[in-house]
Amino acid sequence: MASIPNEFIETLLDRIDIHDVVGARVQLKKSGKDYSGLCPFHSENTPSFTVSQQKQFYHCFGCGKNGSAIGFLMEYEGLDFVDAVKDLAQLAGMQVPSTENHTGHKPKTNLYAVTEKATRIFQQQLKNTPAVIDYLKNRGISGQTCKTFQMGYALNQWDALIKRYDQSEHELLKRTGLTTQNDQQRTYDKFRNRLMFPIHDKRGRVIAFGGRAVEAEQKPKYLNSPETDLFHKGNELYGLHLARKHSNESYVLVVEGYMDVVALHQHGVNNAVATLGTATSTQHISNLFKVWDRIVFCFDGDSAGVQAAEKALNTSLPLYLDHKIIDFLFLPTGEDPDSFVMRHGKDAFIQAVNEATPLSDFLLKVISNGININSIDGKAQLLEKAKPYLNQLPKGAFKKMMGQQISQISGMNLSITQKSTVNKSENSPAGDNPLRKLISLLLNSPQFCKNIPNDLKLRTLSFKGVEIIDKIIEIQSLNPQINAAAMLERFRDSSYSPYLGHLMRIYDHLDDAQKALEFEDIINYLNQLTSKVEIDRLRNKQMQSGLDSTEKQILVQLLRQKTNQ
Ligand code: UTP
Ligand code: MN
Repeated sequence: MASIPNEFIETLLDRIDIHDVVGARVQLKKSGKDYSGLCPFHSENTPSFTVSQQKQFYHCFGCGKNGSAIGFLMEYEGLDFVDAVKDLAQLAGMQVPSTENHTGHKPKTNLYAVTEKATRIFQQQLKNTPAVIDYLKNRGISGQTCKTFQMGYALNQWDALIKRYDQSEHELLKRTGLTTQNDQQRTYDKFRNRLMFPIHDKRGRVIAFGGRAVEAEQKPKYLNSPETDLFHKGNELYGLHLARKHSNESYVLVVEGYMDVVALHQHGVNNAVATLGTATSTQHISNLFKVWDRIVFCFDGDSAGVQAAEKALNTSLPLYLDHKIIDFLFLPTGEDPDSFVMRHGKDAFIQAVNEATPLSDFLLKVISNGININSIDGKAQLLEKAKPYLNQLPKGAFKKMMGQQISQISGMNLSITQKSTVNKSENSPAGDNPLRKLISLLLNSPQFCKNIPNDLKLRTLSFKGVEIIDKIIEIQSLNPQINAAAMLERFRDSSYSPYLGHLMRIYDHLDDAQKALEFEDIINYLNQLTSKVEIDRLRNKQMQSGLDSTEKQILVQLLRQKTNQ
């Protein structure tokens, strides 16, 4: 990912203005020293989305999203890092340095060409295979639907596909997962005698394939592309590129199978996507919530379906903000969306969607499952079982209401539940941790780095995150002019990244002069703290094993400083 040189990113973020980038997509109004507008990442009526020109940083107080102009484009346009940088570079009239020779990251452009070509080959082969056309006809799938989904057929041969590519393209073909190797290093087609479903990314480019067996004895029933440079199952949803065109629908359906999406689409239900043989991931849900405010998970009515629904419920809880809606639709046993819509038609299906179980009801059902809530023991059990679920919910009205409801059912003191769930102080900026404050100040104003005394021994403090400060100082010393956004970009691939974005905010309300004073205070405080720790350490050592002359000198000096303070 980080194959574009940091210097390029820094110059780029210096040349463009985040106000232009965001302003072209979101209506912004000057508000104090920053700009504000309605957040494009969650629905709201009063603006909580701010853009700081000074920091070259955006932040939403409503949903917490934040980042640089690059991060904004990634989020808003659904681009990956490299594509976002390319778009911005074009805006700035800059040429992105070739990414090919760095860190093994190879451009994906050629891979798309390979998958698109395979799609056309499979489509052509389907046209020439009447048996598979019959199979589709028997399942009620029209020619138009096949075309819309670019469905195709992989021949029952080991090299039908590979033969269609130049020798020079075979390596690329392998990188798309369309061919594999056996133990003898022989390369052959991965998909043989299968009905092919191309999987598209949200921009409509083919990134992978699912292949369905066309004969009963063929195993597995569905074969999917492996994870490749183009394809990460946990991020992608089948049919999203088509469903996205129906963002005006008030909800999106999440179903389990390729054929479910295809059949629903054919019946005019265009806002459906499928997970790709995996559980619904956090990434899936947050991607969908960018486009729709309501998700309806659709599961088979059998026990596997309920199990899958419980998993989806667990993944959903932390993302269940008050302005979002999640419902669960359980179909009658033995039916999936495909069979249901084929048999009963669109209206019946939509009616079932409208009667879907709200997340709150399903959650209560899951929590009280197997508990006799009429017994005292049961009531206590219910409360205990509810806590971990409620704790996962984001702070807000829904969490409060669920807490109240559980308290009511259990008859236990509301304040207990309130305390352990509703009032838990999530995301509080923990104003008392000086190191967090220092990190925030250094991110906000990297030029403060040069005012950190050389003899400040932060390492003596057992605070988490000291290494971040070292890193920030190192980056700033090499790039004295670096701005806040570019500094943050340096941590994009680090596990600290989301945390740093939030830390940026601690000082949003202060102007430069106030920040400088705050910085001084913190450095003084940390100075005292580190010298106290050092004094304790030396005194301890003095008692245990004695000090050498240098150590004694240091101790005396530290003690003298302390009395002067
Ligand atoms: P299902 O077994 O429910 O199949 O798997 P289906 O979607 O109803 O397909 P048809 O109607 O029999 O053709 C649901 C999804 O689980 C994944 C696929 O993504 C499939 O669409 N799956 C299933 C696999 O990845 N591998 C398998 O062997 C089976
Ligand atoms: Mn099915």
